[in-house]
Amino acid sequence: MYIGNVKINGVASLAPMAGITDRAFREICSLFGAAYITSEMISVKGLVFGDKKTLQLISHSDTGKPFSIQLFGSSPDDFAEAAQIISKYSPDIIDINFGCPAPKVIKSKAGSFLMKEPKLCGKIVSAVKKNSNLPVTVKVRSGFDNNNLNAVDVAKECEFYGADAVTVHGRTCKQMYSGKSDLDIIKKVKDSVKIPVIGNGDIINYSTAKFMIDYTNCDIVAVGRGALGNPWIFQCINSKTDSFTPSISERVKLMKYHLDKLILYKGEACAMKEARKHLAYYTKGIPGSAAIRKEIFQMENYSDFLQISDTLLEIR
Ligand SMILES: Cc1cc2nc3c(=O)[nH]c(=O)nc-3n(C[C@H](O)[C@H](O)[C@H](O)COP(=O)(O)O)c2cc1C
Repeated sequence: MYIGNVKINGVASLAPMAGITDRAFREICSLFGAAYITSEMISVKGLVFGDKKTLQLISHSDTGKPFSIQLFGSSPDDFAEAAQIISKYSPDIIDINFGCPAPKVIKSKAGSFLMKEPKLCGKIVSAVKKNSNLPVTVKVRSGFDNNNLNAVDVAKECEFYGADAVTVHGRTCKQMYSGKSDLDIIKKVKDSVKIPVIGNGDIINYSTAKFMIDYTNCDIVAVGRGALGNPWIFQCINSKTDSFTPSISERVKLMKYHLDKLILYKGEACAMKEARKHLAYYTKGIPGSAAIRKEIFQMENYSDFLQISDTLLEIR
């Protein structure tokens, strides 16, 4: 499959997740076979104003796999300027967020607020296309609420203005993350557009990925929460297997690798804090790991981590 001129190898991409899909995590998911990897959502206003923190979010090497930068905002003019700025950072793809349900984002008329305004979505796509040579994707929800399930309209409008692919998360903005991702709406979008469709929501293993692809005919899937502490999911989906549980020593090895990358990219003080949530996820399902997670959330320095990893390696 191609997104614009970018070849996509593999069946599952890494969905954008604020606070999660930073450079370290993306590189790990890439290593484990993610078809492409997406940044955290980046504010177009932050880019336009040259905000330092915003610019840090787009730092990448992301060698090997296509890298997509996701933008969020509300004004086509800001998107136009942001597209020019972002193109200098050489991502492979620009993704546009029409799906974020966070109250702060909705209040600023960005994210899934824009599902209410398909015409404005089209204008935003058009602004980005005109200001960059990169392929442009959009990420939509099923609609704003149950009375407005208009993912098909939004997807068609975006396709008309040049979007090269659309990711559909089958929940409404109002649902946030509750209930289940609606496969029927993903199928409806797939039946209505010619561009590739990436199905999203509740993929936790090969079987759920296969079911979504078979049911909706979507081209590939995007994995979000299923990849937390579990980048092996990409390997499993690519090799069509559900029956894989990483051993404790494999997990500890990856925890160390992840932490080392975070330290390299963010410095020890910041890394030790940001690593906590990731390392906690890696321990999910290990017998007696609740007590270990408590220690992880109090971890201050590298020697705290080494102690935790020794404790984990003693578990039989
Ligand atoms: C912690 C977290 C952060 C997220 N941040 C973003 C984001 O920045 N942009 C976006 O489009 N979606 C974001 N999402 C939504 C995911 O990309 C995805 O659509 C959603 O979690 C459903 O997929 P899943 O069931 O595979 O997790 C976020 C989800 C989570 C859990």
